[in-house]
Amino acid sequence: MNITVAPSILGGNLADLRSSLVQIRGSGARWVHIDVMDGYFAPNLTFGPQTVQALADSKQDLFFDVHLMLEHPEYFVGKFAEAGADLISIHIESRCDVAKTLQIIRTLDKRVGLAINPETAIEKIFPHLDFVDLALVMGVYPGFCGQKFIEHSWEKVEIIRKKNPILAIEIDGGVNGDNARLCIQKGANILVVGTSFFKAPDPRKFVQQIEHV
Ligand code: DX5
Ligand code: ZN
Repeated sequence: MNITVAPSILGGNLADLRSSLVQIRGSGARWVHIDVMDGYFAPNLTFGPQTVQALADSKQDLFFDVHLMLEHPEYFVGKFAEAGADLISIHIESRCDVAKTLQIIRTLDKRVGLAINPETAIEKIFPHLDFVDLALVMGVYPGFCGQKFIEHSWEKVEIIRKKNPILAIEIDGGVNGDNARLCIQKGANILVVGTSFFKAPDPRKFVQQIEHV
């Protein structure tokens, strides 16, 4: 499977997001991971559709991977689709009709992702796996960049990969140059990197090393 590195712009320069976007493009990465939080689902507030729209002016051929950590993503999927999202992931733990909201994302002609938190039983997402384009496995509790990877998250990746050999599996949180190889061996093919990307002395080399392990 092709490996894709998705730098998380939340780990970039929050006072100058465009410069972080330029930095991501300069690294050769093709995806940009955009973490959206509402202060309820996750204990932080980040970006809204207008921020994504503003960034979309400098998007060029980058792929906007929008990760909604919201209690009610159903109110916002349309707005993020319009703003320039290419893929929209919602959480299985959200307080919405998950199947219906995934269907709305599909109807908006965007790629469909479903995310799962570290403490949630993996079985919860099984009924939706045939419908989605991507499963997002959290490697940390939603909220902040720079947290330590929770080791048992790999089990989830392995279980999903066993069930579906071709589904895109994204691992998000705590991924770095040291554990990236293991993430891939367990079955992940999209790797979100926040802190480790923006702290890398040579981001281009960092991306290449992970994508070509
Ligand atoms: C947590 C965020 C982070 C972020 C990645 O809610 O979703 O996982 O994208 O940041 P790092 O790579 O620093 O964990
Ligand atoms: Zn994320």
